[in-house]
Amino acid sequence: MKLFTTFAANLCFLCVNRKHCSYFCIMNAIENIRKLFPALEQEMNGKKLVYLDNAATSQKPLPVIGLIERMNSGINANVHRAMYRLSDETTALYEGAREEVRKFINAPERENVIFTSGTTASINLVATCFCERYVNEGDVIVITADSHHSNIVPWQLACGRKGAHVRILPLKDNGEWDMDQLQDMIDRRVRLVAATQISNVLGLINPLDELILTAHRHDIPVLVDGAQGVVHMPVDVQEMDCDFYAFSGHKIYGATGTGILYGKKKWLEEMPPYMGGGDMVGTVTFERTTYAPLPLKYEAGTPDFIGASSFKPALEFVGNIREGETGKEVARSEKEITEYMRRALREIDGCILYGDAENKIPLFSFNVEGCHAGDIAQLLDKMGIAVRSGMMCAEPVMTRFGTTSMVRASFAPYNTLQEAQYLIDCLKKAVKMLR
Ligand code: ALA
Repeated sequence: MKLFTTFAANLCFLCVNRKHCSYFCIMNAIENIRKLFPALEQEMNGKKLVYLDNAATSQKPLPVIGLIERMNSGINANVHRAMYRLSDETTALYEGAREEVRKFINAPERENVIFTSGTTASINLVATCFCERYVNEGDVIVITADSHHSNIVPWQLACGRKGAHVRILPLKDNGEWDMDQLQDMIDRRVRLVAATQISNVLGLINPLDELILTAHRHDIPVLVDGAQGVVHMPVDVQEMDCDFYAFSGHKIYGATGTGILYGKKKWLEEMPPYMGGGDMVGTVTFERTTYAPLPLKYEAGTPDFIGASSFKPALEFVGNIREGETGKEVARSEKEITEYMRRALREIDGCILYGDAENKIPLFSFNVEGCHAGDIAQLLDKMGIAVRSGMMCAEPVMTRFGTTSMVRASFAPYNTLQEAQYLIDCLKKAVKMLR
């Protein structure tokens, strides 16, 4: 944390409004946010890097880098196990991060917050353990058609083991859920609904409230894939009333290989454990084992305690950039970028923007007639721009929109309107070269 404090102190020193200042209260909030991200200073192919693949993984701010460095170079001992001070310090950082996550998503208790290795692991945990406990032959799990593979395959695997089925809530042509069909999807065989808060391809903020209300009216629990959602909007799991909420650390400025599963206690207590091993046990004999109380019941083995600890500085960073003047500046910048990108993409001849509906985050998946998505991405790379291309781990979304690949530019608060304009200029050049 020292690095961040020092950096923040430097910023605050310049600030005319020091008494009320957050870390970024001086003139240009976006420029100050950028200064926290050393990765943005690099060059790629002789050009200044324009990093627009934030939906795949975000860059790391100095406070996160600093904590990971400090832990790797000193505050390093296994958590929960030892009676010596260094282990206590590491445990305090690990559990401190859990508390930060709890506050960030407004979970009622620390017992609701499980550390995992990512959204994929969180959903696999629920699919395996929930289906083991509650799903029988002929039962149904409903998933939304904008799902990432990580919200499809775990359910297929778990349903396959039980003779159950996956049912799909379809998408309209603009990428929104077809809510008219929801009622027909829900019948007495449905055991759970697994929904995407914001699709990694379409970038639309889905009507979760309506879906959760409908499912709960039939006593059906809902899992929310929040991998993109938690990065772009405040999440209050109690207000949302979801039963499970999954997200990753690396997409929200934290360490790779880390994730969170929030679950209501009733489910977490009733479901069987996921993996067996150290730290998840009460007593072990060769005849019988009892399990540790929550949350450790689901945290077998040595966790990535350094990566998990980085949730604290990562989420503090997000809290800071959502507050006060900085928060307003970030929201204004994202709105400006979103409006510009929509307009500019529509103006390119033959450009198809997917997920072109009202409630959209600054994430744009598109194709341009006559140009392959992969070719566009490679040419943009030559101009210093990093965008994603391909199926984006969501093949059924590609199929729904009649394509096999797309280009995706996904923005973070450290991206600027100038970068968006540079992307569009370079895209026009790439299209000219490819046609
Ligand atoms: N799921 C990540 C993406 O959308 C990797 O790119």
